Amino acid sequence: MERALSLEFLRVVERAAIASARTMGLGDGHKADHAAVEAMRSEMDSVGMDGTIVIGEGERDEAPMLFIGEKVGSAVRDKTRTYPAVDIAVDPLEGTNLCATGAPNSVTVLAASDHGGLLHAPDLYMQKIIVGPSSRGFIDLDAPVAVNLRAIAKSLDRKVEDLVIIVLDRPRHEDLVREIRKAGARIRLISDGDLSAGISTALLGTGVHAVMGIGGAPEGVLTAAALRCLNGQILARLVVSKPEHEERLAQMGIKDGKKIYDTADLAPGNKLIFASTGVTDGSLLRGVRFFGGGIRTQSLIMSLEQREVRFIDSVHISNDDVKIRQY
Ligand code: FBP
Repeated sequence: MERALSLEFLRVVERAAIASARTMGLGDGHKADHAAVEAMRSEMDSVGMDGTIVIGEGERDEAPMLFIGEKVGSAVRDKTRTYPAVDIAVDPLEGTNLCATGAPNSVTVLAASDHGGLLHAPDLYMQKIIVGPSSRGFIDLDAPVAVNLRAIAKSLDRKVEDLVIIVLDRPRHEDLVREIRKAGARIRLISDGDLSAGISTALLGTGVHAVMGIGGAPEGVLTAAALRCLNGQILARLVVSKPEHEERLAQMGIKDGKKIYDTADLAPGNKLIFASTGVTDGSLLRGVRFFGGGIRTQSLIMSLEQREVRFIDSVHISNDDVKIRQY
């Protein structure tokens, strides 16, 4: 499945990024998200697959497009041949508010797998700790923060003081931030976007050594798909704090709400593809750039089976009869 579909998924995330980037800075997160969803959905129709959305915009009654269980891909219309069955997880615009305010690090994201290869995570919060390949196996979700930081530092052959930990800037993280500071590590607080932050931990040169704290569970599954391709690690546990959360788990067939998920529990697929395009400039990817003769995008495409990680710069040349300027 992977080689044939990678380029098609590239097109899907690129189109979504271009559409949402047009809304950058308008101060309208809903509009930015809608643009990404619509573009992603319409581009997916032409992908040669028998796709099923397993992580999307919500349940059918709350999302008109990219809802959980929705069938997508060429197989929907073309019954003359058989297409590969693919499970799809999307976050059409990760960092909606970042795009709406023109802040860095909003991206479009899609992960695909063979059937059953992505956990059908409920739309709850998840406690997470995310690290790159060198620190894989050194972390423990239930260990004190200082213990994890010492283990990560040891794995990277550096001092705790030389670590940079990303944490979502939320009141729920006050204790976590206090403990990280007490242990001596440096912190980068972010307003949104723990998915791309998580991927950064597994890429050399980003200067990020771990992500800690509570963020979305769907983002956790997408992060896991990326980290399977990059040999990184995410440990996570659903935050089940209300009776309605218990009900949601029961509906989804999740028996153990306290389970600690490792990377391969969240994204167990043997065949995984991860695709993401920058919307606004970020530490992982450059954002969409519009110019006289077209549009330039930067994307990350990874494939587990092929063991390939590609950063792709695309120039989408305008159809208009305008004078092509510098690319
Ligand atoms: P969106 O994709 O909806 O913009 O989510 C951004 C995000 O910051 C995620 O990266 C993170 O996992 C989640 O929201 C955190 O949720 P909350 O904003 O409720 O703390």
